Amino acid sequence: MKEQLNKIRERALTELNELQNIEELENFRVQVLGKKGELTAILKQMGTLSAEERPQMGQLANEVRQSIEELLAQRKAALKAVEQEMKLKMETVDVTLPGKTSDIGHKHPLSIVLDEVKDIFIGMGFQIATGPEVEWDYYNFEALNLPPDHPARDTQDTFYITEKMLLRTQTSPVQIRVMEKQSAPIRIIAPGRVYRSDAVDATHSPYFHQIEGLVVDEGITMGDLKGNLMQFAKRLYGDQTQLRFRPHHFPFTEPSCEVDVTCFKCGGKGCPMCKGEGWVEILGGGMVHPKVLKNGGVDPEKYSGYAFGIGLERLTMFRFNIDDMRLLFENDMRFLGQF
Ligand code: DAH
Repeated sequence: MKEQLNKIRERALTELNELQNIEELENFRVQVLGKKGELTAILKQMGTLSAEERPQMGQLANEVRQSIEELLAQRKAALKAVEQEMKLKMETVDVTLPGKTSDIGHKHPLSIVLDEVKDIFIGMGFQIATGPEVEWDYYNFEALNLPPDHPARDTQDTFYITEKMLLRTQTSPVQIRVMEKQSAPIRIIAPGRVYRSDAVDATHSPYFHQIEGLVVDEGITMGDLKGNLMQFAKRLYGDQTQLRFRPHHFPFTEPSCEVDVTCFKCGGKGCPMCKGEGWVEILGGGMVHPKVLKNGGVDPEKYSGYAFGIGLERLTMFRFNIDDMRLLFENDMRFLGQF
């Protein structure tokens, strides 16, 4: 029996050092020290020993168990240290690796220019107004002095929801809505999307954007319109910019004008951008027609006003030298990423 015990101890000494992980270690422990283990099997034979031998063997068995347990503990600690080290190595972060970047979006060119326009007008004391894109015929046409049979309606065909309800063709209906809601003085711009049944090409789209302007107060004249627009054009395109006012006709203004700016590409000399003219048209405007003031609930005897409508796509195309309007609506990141 003594021999068996010593053998176990020796075997443990050599074998334990060869165990490579905690699992193998545990298996070994069960195999040797467990309830059905080798050491236990030997101890079960104690009954066959004489009374003198028994305590001696008992002591030896305890010593063997103790030393094996110590060895196990040592080996376990060593294996754990190795495992820990491996884990640390695997989790090492290489701070010199290039980082993962996520793409950050930015403003659409139309929004860039619109925000500039808003800033300029807010700086001149204007407020921002809005109106619905699905509009009544009354606000889009009738109240703006365009009765049902007016020929100018032909140039602004649109998508009708019912006989009396349509997708607005212009931002001008916001003029009436603001006048109805708010009495004079008024000083607003109303940017927004408008719709027309136009076929898509380089300068047309079934939807585009306008920026409406309306100023109503006592004693407003064409001089206010010219001064404010001049200020606006210089702020947007630079101090050297000049404006040209050409007589025109709109049903809702009297007198009416179209306004050109000196071509910012050639400075007025003439180039392909301005088709050799030196000027490019950016807006229509004029003095608000007395009938329109009345339709908005404003007394034309007491108040006068000016109004204008700017095409945001044109402003943006001139600003960034874009020659095809379709680029603004196709959402091609190769294009949009350039701004
Ligand atoms: N609504 C006009 C259009 O779409 C533009 C316009 C012209 C607006 C003159 C105005 C204005 O407010 O006074 O063609």
